[in-house]
Amino acid sequence: MFKLENPYALRRGRVAKVIKETENIYTFYIETEEQARPGQYNMLYAFGMGEAPITIASMEGEYLVHTVRAVGDVTRHIDELKEGEILYYRGPYGNTWDIERAHKGELLIISGGLGLAATRWVFEQAKTHHIKRLIHIYGSKDYHSLLYRYLYEHWHSYSEFYITLERPDPRWNGRVGLVTDLLREIELKEDTVVFTCGPDPMVKACVSLLENKGIKVYNIYASLERHMKCSLGTCGHCMIGPYFVCKDGPIFRYDLIREYFERKEV
Ligand SMILES: Cc1cc2nc3c(=O)[nH]c(=O)nc-3n(C[C@H](O)[C@H](O)[C@H](O)COP(=O)(O)OP(=O)(O)OC[C@H]3O[C@@H](n4cnc5c(N)ncnc54)[C@H](O)[C@@H]3O)c2cc1C
Ligand code: FES
Repeated sequence: MFKLENPYALRRGRVAKVIKETENIYTFYIETEEQARPGQYNMLYAFGMGEAPITIASMEGEYLVHTVRAVGDVTRHIDELKEGEILYYRGPYGNTWDIERAHKGELLIISGGLGLAATRWVFEQAKTHHIKRLIHIYGSKDYHSLLYRYLYEHWHSYSEFYITLERPDPRWNGRVGLVTDLLREIELKEDTVVFTCGPDPMVKACVSLLENKGIKVYNIYASLERHMKCSLGTCGHCMIGPYFVCKDGPIFRYDLIREYFERKEV
C-alpha cells in the first residue's frame, strides 16, 4: 500500500456534486487527485470545530465519494456544504478489504444502515474480480433511511442483491425483517468469504449465525467504527484490545478481534 508523505497534510477538494440521501445524510462528490483503496477513510475537517473520520464510499473517476450523516458539530457543518464549495480533509487512512481472499469463490457482503458506505466501493470492485457468486444483504431500519437508491438497479444486474427493512412501509413491497432472518435463508458454501459493516449487535448476530452455517470465522472481516481523534495510532481513543482501529483497521479479521468486540463494555 502507498505511504502518505505527510499524514497531517490537509488537502482541499471542490465539492462537485451533492446528493441528498435522507433527511440528515448527504453524499458528496469531491474533486481529488487522491489515490485510495476500498475500506479506507479520510478525516474531514470543519474549521473551528474539529474533524471526523468518514469512510471513502467510492472513487468515481476523479471524484472522491463521501456519505455523511449529520450527528454532531463536524458532520452537521459538512452536510451544509454546497456544490462549488471547498472541503478540507486529510488521509486516506486505514487498511483495505482483502478481496483476493474471495478470488474464484463466494463473497457475501452484509451491510447495516450507514455501514453500506463502507462496503459500497468493494461491492462495486467485486464486479470486475473473478468471483463466482456475489451476494449482498443490506438491512435498513426503515424506508426513509435507504441509501443509494439510484444504484440498486445496477447492483441487481451483477449480483444477488437483497434489501430488507426492519419496519414495513406502504411504499415498500420488498422484504421486511432483520438481516439475520434473510441470512438464515441463504445457502452458503463453507469457504464463503464475508465482509460486513453495521451496528455492533448486527455484526455479532450475523457472525454467530454464519458460524452455525459452517462458515470459518477467519473468513469473516468486519469494518469497525470507534471514536477517533488522531487517526495515527498516537492518542489511544480508538483502541479495541491491543489494536488501533485507526491504523490497524478499520477492517479486522473477526477471529482476531472477537475477544474484545464481544465484551459487554465495548
Ligand atoms: C472508520 C470510521 C468511518 C466512519 N465513516 C462514516 C461515514 O462514512 N459516514 C458517517 O456519517 N459517519 C462515519 N463515521 C462516524 C463519524 O466519524 C462520527 O459520527 C463522527 O464522530 C461525528 O462527528 P461530529 O463531530 O459531527 O459528532 P460528535 O460531536 O463527535 O458526536 C455526535 C454524537 O454521536 C456520537 N458518536 C460520535 N462518534 C461516534 C462513534 N464512532 N460511534 C458511536 N457514537 C458516536 C457522540 O457520542 C454524540 O452523541 C465513521 C467513523 C469511523 C471510525
Ligand atoms: S484515533 Fe488516536 S490512536 Fe486511533
